[in-house]
Amino acid sequence: MNYRTLGPTDIQVSTICMGCWGLASDFHWGPQDDAASIATVHAALDAGVNFFDTAEAYGDGHSDEVLGRALQGVRRQVIIASKVSAHHLAPDDLTRSCEASLRRLNTDYLDLLQIHWPSREIPFAESWAAMERLQREGKVRALGVSNFGVIDLPELLAVGRPASDQLPYSLLFRAIEYGVQRLCEENEISILAYSPLMHGLLTGRYQRAEDLPITRARTRHYPPDWPHTRHREDGCLAETNAALAEIRRISHEAGLSMTHLALAWLLHQPGVASAIAGMRRPEQARNSALAADITLSPDILRQLDQATRPVKEKLGPNIDMWQTEPRGR
Ligand SMILES: NC(=O)c1ccc[n+]([C@@H]2O[C@H](COP(=O)([O-])OP(=O)(O)OC[C@H]3O[C@@H](n4cnc5c(N)ncnc54)[C@H](OP(=O)(O)O)[C@@H]3O)[C@@H](O)[C@H]2O)c1
Repeated sequence: MNYRTLGPTDIQVSTICMGCWGLASDFHWGPQDDAASIATVHAALDAGVNFFDTAEAYGDGHSDEVLGRALQGVRRQVIIASKVSAHHLAPDDLTRSCEASLRRLNTDYLDLLQIHWPSREIPFAESWAAMERLQREGKVRALGVSNFGVIDLPELLAVGRPASDQLPYSLLFRAIEYGVQRLCEENEISILAYSPLMHGLLTGRYQRAEDLPITRARTRHYPPDWPHTRHREDGCLAETNAALAEIRRISHEAGLSMTHLALAWLLHQPGVASAIAGMRRPEQARNSALAADITLSPDILRQLDQATRPVKEKLGPNIDMWQTEPRGR
């Protein structure tokens, strides 16, 4: 495992983070057994993962609870990142949300508190002041945001300094390369790359994008008449499937699994501190953690850029994977 520094803080995070959304037992992921979740957290720890990402929104707090149970006894050795939802960004709500997360996680501090999505109702300055108060009280070590793009991030920077911006980033979703990635680099804001395996599509298990379980197939890659999508674009199934075939070919040539290739590619991109990989079973934790140590040649990186450029161009600079009117701008 490798570790990188989170923004300007002294916090060291593993380059593979365990994403805990999949522990929620929700519509997107389907049922998940808590015992399997706890075993997955323990396998991740054994593999050197010290960084765990959760949110109050995941299973209405269920991911927090399970993660809290799994981390009993090792709290001081790990980095817990959580997120407050967009509808809880009024100062009092935000404080209550953070305190509820602490209770569910059975801890007295969060290492990183993030705004999950920007709010259009509550001024950033008000939310940020509440977050800074929690930091002064010792309830939070570092502050960050998520889904803040080229409009929202500069607005936030006028009132505060986030240590990180958690953004969707993968071989099949490269919207941040149109601007926010550079902004993060210029401002010493670590990028935490979420959905690095595109909900599982980049693991090699699915031949075509159409094969992904239907509750996960909701992003702008799919056409607007796909059952659970909520955008008004054409989708880009042809480009996505062509990219998948090329990534598969490149992974064979490189002698790597698609999962390892997809995660390692992210760790070669500017500004990325950690790839937040979803894991629901111990073998996934053990396997994904190995990607931290993989170096890709310039030729492989060039081939991957070329293979995925048509998807990047079709989806454009909108950093919202799901909606035409971006919630994060
Ligand atoms: N800030 C935000 O708005 C936001 C939004 C989305 C996600 N996130 C964060 O990002 C995390 C990850 O993103 P994601 O949940 O979209 O998923 P992801 O990492 O793109 O994909 C995870 C899925 O890939 C499969 N997988 C994982 N490791 C594997 C391995 N080694 N071998 C084979 N298959 C493997 C598993 O599918 P199966 O379950 O089918 O086995 C797993 O559930 C979330 O948990 C969350 O923490 C944040």
